[in-house]
Amino acid sequence: MAASDAIPHVSLAHLPTPLEPLPRLSAELGGPNIWVKRDDASGLAMGGNKVRKLEYLMADAAEQGADIVLTTGATQSNHCRQTAAAAARMGVECELLIEHRFPEWPEAYNAGGNLQLDHLLGATVIDLERGVDRVQALEDRANELRAAGRTPYVIPLGGSSVIGAMGYRTAAMEILRQADELDLELREVVHATASGGTQAGLVAGMAIRRSGVPVLGISAGAPADYLAPVVRELAEGVVARIGIDREITADDVVVDDDYVGEEYGIPTESMHEAVSLAARGEGLLFDPVYSGKALAGLIAHIRAGRYAKGDNVVFIHTGGTPALFAYRQVRR
Ligand SMILES: Cc1ncc(COP(=O)(O)O)c(C=O)c1O
Repeated sequence: MAASDAIPHVSLAHLPTPLEPLPRLSAELGGPNIWVKRDDASGLAMGGNKVRKLEYLMADAAEQGADIVLTTGATQSNHCRQTAAAAARMGVECELLIEHRFPEWPEAYNAGGNLQLDHLLGATVIDLERGVDRVQALEDRANELRAAGRTPYVIPLGGSSVIGAMGYRTAAMEILRQADELDLELREVVHATASGGTQAGLVAGMAIRRSGVPVLGISAGAPADYLAPVVRELAEGVVARIGIDREITADDVVVDDDYVGEEYGIPTESMHEAVSLAARGEGLLFDPVYSGKALAGLIAHIRAGRYAKGDNVVFIHTGGTPALFAYRQVRR
């Protein structure tokens, strides 16, 4: 356990992740200065945002004496891959309940990318059909394991419990510290949001520090009117757990669901454009499901004049790069 934080956590990530300028993308869009926070480079098994959450979740699992961790996600879940890696690192067994949303899609999607890595990392994969109640399935499996004398630790969808969100409270502080070192005044932090824990931790961290830096979550799937209250409740949970008196208001939680397209996981034209611009302009690889759609949202907001020239906007690259190998059509 690291001693620098009163909330128990283990060290899994390479921190701090870099905060880098994107001069070519900024010039191309003619808007604010875009900075990328490289949480795709968080280090564990191809990185991503969940590693920060898993530092807290795996410490909690260890405290509870867990001998197996369970979680769930869709076929190309980055969360599942990172959980499998964290479990391997901790020497704990891992079971992944994977919901196959698009079984009719090519083999690259249904066997490659993150799913290939889940197997390689030693997790046991339990297949679920599209539409199954995943929360119930997790609970049922945990009960079976308990009945067999095991001690399971259930990591909720996306690692988005109050404990998981702690990882992004500290990420907010890391961003503020780096901005300070670079003498930057931040206009906004923008990132992909899905199960809400990343945004909740960021909102809580920004509030705890009274930074005044707004956070814009661009949804990869869930409607804003569903997700925003989830994020707010988790952020309130983080603040309460830290024991600091801060109010998280509805205005602190901004979720934009305009860039989901048809459905979670289904590519959009604006995602193709965003992923391509970042790849060709900056040599950066974003993913088709989360960070690519969120970057598409940021680009649309820049074009619509949300920011002034000279503003500094941080885009968090939350990872997901292995999913590119599952979406072979993303190449232009
Ligand atoms: C690459 C990537 N970005 C963003 C997110 C969203 O994070 P959260 O579930 O904490 O909202 C995820 C979640 O799976 C992800 O894999």
